[in-house]
Order: sequence, then C-alpha cells, then structure tokens
Amino acid sequence: MDNHEITMEKIVSLCKRRGFVFQSSEIYGGQAGAWDYGPLGIELKKNIQNAWWKEMTQLHDNIVGLDAAIFMHPRTWEASGHVANFSDPLVDCKDCKMRFRADDESQISKENVEKRICPKCGGELTPPRSFNLMFKTHIGPAEDTASILYLRPETAQGIYVNYKNIIQSNRMKIPFGIAQVGKAFRNEIVTKNFIFRTCEFEQMEMQFFVKPGDDDKFFEYWRGQRWEFYKKYGIRENKLRWYHHEKLAHYAKDAYDIEYEFPMGFSELEGIHNRTNFDLTKHTEYSGKDMSYIDQDNGNEKYIPYIIETSAGLTRNVLMFMCDAYEEQNLAKAGEPEDYRTVLHFHPKIAPVTVAVLPLMKKDGLAELAKDIQNELKEEFVTDYDQAGAIGKRYRRQDEVGTPFCVTVDYDSKEDNTVTLRFRDSMEQVRIPRSELTARIKQEIKNYKRV
Ligand code: GAP
Repeated sequence: MDNHEITMEKIVSLCKRRGFVFQSSEIYGGQAGAWDYGPLGIELKKNIQNAWWKEMTQLHDNIVGLDAAIFMHPRTWEASGHVANFSDPLVDCKDCKMRFRADDESQISKENVEKRICPKCGGELTPPRSFNLMFKTHIGPAEDTASILYLRPETAQGIYVNYKNIIQSNRMKIPFGIAQVGKAFRNEIVTKNFIFRTCEFEQMEMQFFVKPGDDDKFFEYWRGQRWEFYKKYGIRENKLRWYHHEKLAHYAKDAYDIEYEFPMGFSELEGIHNRTNFDLTKHTEYSGKDMSYIDQDNGNEKYIPYIIETSAGLTRNVLMFMCDAYEEQNLAKAGEPEDYRTVLHFHPKIAPVTVAVLPLMKKDGLAELAKDIQNELKEEFVTDYDQAGAIGKRYRRQDEVGTPFCVTVDYDSKEDNTVTLRFRDSMEQVRIPRSELTARIKQEIKNYKRV
C-alpha cells in the first residue's frame, strides 16, 4: 500500500490530535462503543445535521420536524417487533471466550458455525443463540418487569406514534413526511472501525407517509433524492454505490442501502426502506388507537398509509465526510523532493471552520486589525484566529482541519484596507478589499465544486 493512502488509523489519529473525536472516558481506559465529539467534531456533526435538516424539511413544503423522547412506552417495542425480532445470532468459543455474530461472514464463516469450530483458536463453539440488541433499563425505584424501559434502537417509532398528532396539529395531507434527528442505542456485540458502529449513535430519519399503491413511486423518488444529497455536499460519486437487500428486515417490503467505500471497504451509510403499513398496523393493534388516515379530499377514503423511510447515521456520516475529505497531497513539482500536506476537502457548508484569519505578524497593530476583521466575519461564518508560527505552517494547520478560506492581514492591509484571501484546495491567493470579503466568501461557497 502507498504510504499516503487513507487508513482508519490515520483518521482516528487526526480526529484525536485536532479535536474532532475522543475516546469516551479515556482516563479510565475508555468505554467501548461510545465516543465524544470535540470542538471541531461537534461543528462538523452540526453542519451535516443542518444540511440534512434543510434538505429534508425546509426544502420540502410537505415535510415537518419532530423531536420525540428517547424513552417510549415499552409496548411500542413489542408492537414494532423489536422485542421479538431485533436480535443477532451469537456464538461463543468455550475455550478462548471470543464471541462472533453467526450471520456475519466478516467475523466467522458459515462452515465454522456449522461445524462449531472457533476461527481464532480452533476450540469448540456454542450453538447460535439469539441476543436482543435493545438496552433495557428501569424507571422508578422498583426493578421489576412493570418498570422496564428500553433505550430506543431507532428514532422512527417516535415519529409513528406522533403521526396522528402531527396530522391534526399541522393539517398535513398525504403524501407528507416527518423528519427527526436524535440518539439511538444498540447493544452491538462488535463495535469496531472507530465511530462506524457504536452502541450510542445518532440517526437522521425521515418517514414519508403515502397512499398504498403509491409506495413504489415514492420509494424510487427518495432513493434518487438521497443519492443527490451526497453529491450536492461534494461526496465523490465513485465512492458511493447501491446495495439491494434480498433478506429483508421484519418490517420491510423493499430496501436499498447507499454504501460508501470506507477504508475497510464498501459499507452501509444509509438505508431507504419501504416499511409498508407494518408499523402503523401494529400500533393500531397494540394501542387500540386507530392509526388510519381519512382522505377528506377523496370522499373520506380510509386507509393505513404506507411508509417510505430514509434512515442515515449522523455519526456514521461524520466518519464518511472525514474519509471522503482526507487527502495527503504531494505539492512538489517534478524533480523536487516530496512535500506532503494533509488536507480535508470538506464542502464549505460542512467544514467545521469556514474562515481563519491570520495576521502576518503579531506586532505593529496587525493582530488588532486581524481580530477586528474576524469579529466582522463572525456574524456570517464560523471563524478561527491564529497568530502562532510561520504563515506557511498556519496554512497547513488550517488545511488539515479543512478550513476552506484563510484571510491574511499584512502591512499593506493597514495602508490600503486590502487582505489576502487564500483558497484551501487550489492554494491560490487573491488580493481583495476588506469591504468585499464577506460577499466574496459567500459567492465562493455558493459556487464551490470539489476538483
Ligand atoms: N429505522 C431504520 C433503521 O434504524 P438501520 O439500517 O438499522 O435502519 C439506519 O439503521 C442507519 O443508522 C444505518 O444506515 C447507519 O448509518 C446507522 N446505524 C445503525 N446502527 C448503527 C450503529 N450501531 N452505529 C452507528 N450507526 C448506526
């Protein structure tokens, strides 16, 4: 492998070094399956969430938002099928105590499962047993079955149980959607590949309610929309592909994943599912409340809507945007010694910091002038200020965290009120009046195309 290819180790190291993602409870040796987002990580995560929210609610007249509680009535999870079906088949090695998901060939082959041979030590495996992925807890002082609560394993159910409230309060008419971003929890047996698969994670889900019979059409529509979203935010299309599920989840009629080529290979980024009327039918059955829709524009026709779901991992998207942006770029011309910079080519709307302001020198009033310019830019953009070290090194530090624009303030700036605007990807620089800075950066963001 070329030394300058992307690896997960490099991403993990950059994330820690520059304050994107830290191991949870690191001082105690870390907590498996949980990660903390640092100052740049939280900006990046919020930007991805905002881009998704804009796309999925504000750009559609017929989609509204919701923020439902993580704790839901435990009957919810009986109705949804999660209590009975949301489990992985596990096998344990009686000798080395390793645990494997029997249905995951990246962990263990079918042959090993059948012959009950541990792939690690050759020891004897237990037969597969079902392991439910939902975290259970208790509410109130008594830890009995009446007090059981589950941490939600998907945000979707909060939408389904509120769908009638939203129809009534917001006068929604089918077809319409409800979007939600929030935490979800799964007791994943194997948490690996950094923030790809964790026990605590965030989802961005949109549930689109349609008339039965219109579901295939809207399924195709949302597949197209979700693919375009990633393109719009600069993700390289050759790193994306579709995966069509043959074995479907208990609620689905059809399902596709958008996969991204992570350093460990193509893996699921987002699922688009035709969930039919499964969930609403089950909630009608379990709650005793009729979840049918009455179409007042069509002679009060009554039916339980079908649901098309788009379900993306927000934290998994953070990893994907990091991986897609990462490049170690050799800046040397032919015949010169190698000179690498690490650069994150984030779309400017996704980058944690949009503009960094750098005074050429700290002295002679340049720092004060640069601070004044930064304060002006703060109203419009997320900014950073850096006066430490040589200017070339400061540019590299900004490149490494994906800041698309740097503004350099020098002695001429004091004389003629101009500044240097430097572009991360091309490293080109232009001299412009300070008064044009905000408008020019806005224009550059609007016209941004990844080269
Ligand atoms: N409501 C449907 C649903 O939850 P899913 O395919 O199980 O479907 C949807 O999950 C998305 O949530 C996945 O594509 C992935 O991006 C994210 N996701 C699922 N489990 C995850 C985990 N353990 N860690 C991080 N992200 C996860």
